[in-house]
Amino acid sequence: GIRPLVAGNWKMNGTSASLNELRMIGNGFMSGLDAETEALVCVPATLLHQAAEILSRTPVRAGGEDCHPKESGAYTGEISAEMLKDAGASHVIVGHSERREQCGDNDAIVNAKASAAWRAGLVAIICIGETRAEREAGATLDVLSRQLDGSVPPSATAANTIIAYEPVWAIGTGLTPTAADVAEAHAHIRGKLIALLGDAAAKMRILYGGSVKPSNAVELLGVENVDGALVGGASLKAADFLAIAEAY
Ligand code: 13P
Repeated sequence: GIRPLVAGNWKMNGTSASLNELRMIGNGFMSGLDAETEALVCVPATLLHQAAEILSRTPVRAGGEDCHPKESGAYTGEISAEMLKDAGASHVIVGHSERREQCGDNDAIVNAKASAAWRAGLVAIICIGETRAEREAGATLDVLSRQLDGSVPPSATAANTIIAYEPVWAIGTGLTPTAADVAEAHAHIRGKLIALLGDAAAKMRILYGGSVKPSNAVELLGVENVDGALVGGASLKAADFLAIAEAY
């Protein structure tokens, strides 16, 4: 089977005071948690160097939350994949719905960011997901297909890419799709990935994200074709993040 990944996304949360939670997450994975589960915490760029240092003695890895497509240049305020790599990242999230909605990251930009991640030696976590209006219109599977067509470069492999299915309406709301809806979406994503990339995509991880909590993790992460979780709010508290990882 596919080794599951439990990944955190701290978003625009955390200062150096938050590094203690990260220490506790690292320690939790040192002692007792199933070695079959891989763990990653994506943190604000300001914390990445310290986070990578703290986690270096643990099985947990540190990641970035976004990157610029270019390696360097006159892009004030931006951060390249190479810079994230240099600061200690192993992965970077690209195309999170908050960036798609707030920062103009469309499929073409997400596609370029995924390629930038690989150029720097990072694993790209490419996020997709439908809005509430799209779900209500019955367009969910079409939206997922369109986003995969546009956002996933043809050289994506199970080693360099992870897909995160995050229904926009489930992010930060406490709402989640039913297990049956998650199963349908993930099976659709799997089929589309195999159509796009070939049989090797059968091994590509597809994470579920959106209001994952300790109380729903067992149900959501037990769904077929769910190979882990992308956890926002609950990744800020070590106890919650560890409890979610224990769902495996
Ligand atoms: P929440 O877990 O806070 O709903 O956020 C999910 C998410 O956006 C992870 O990338």
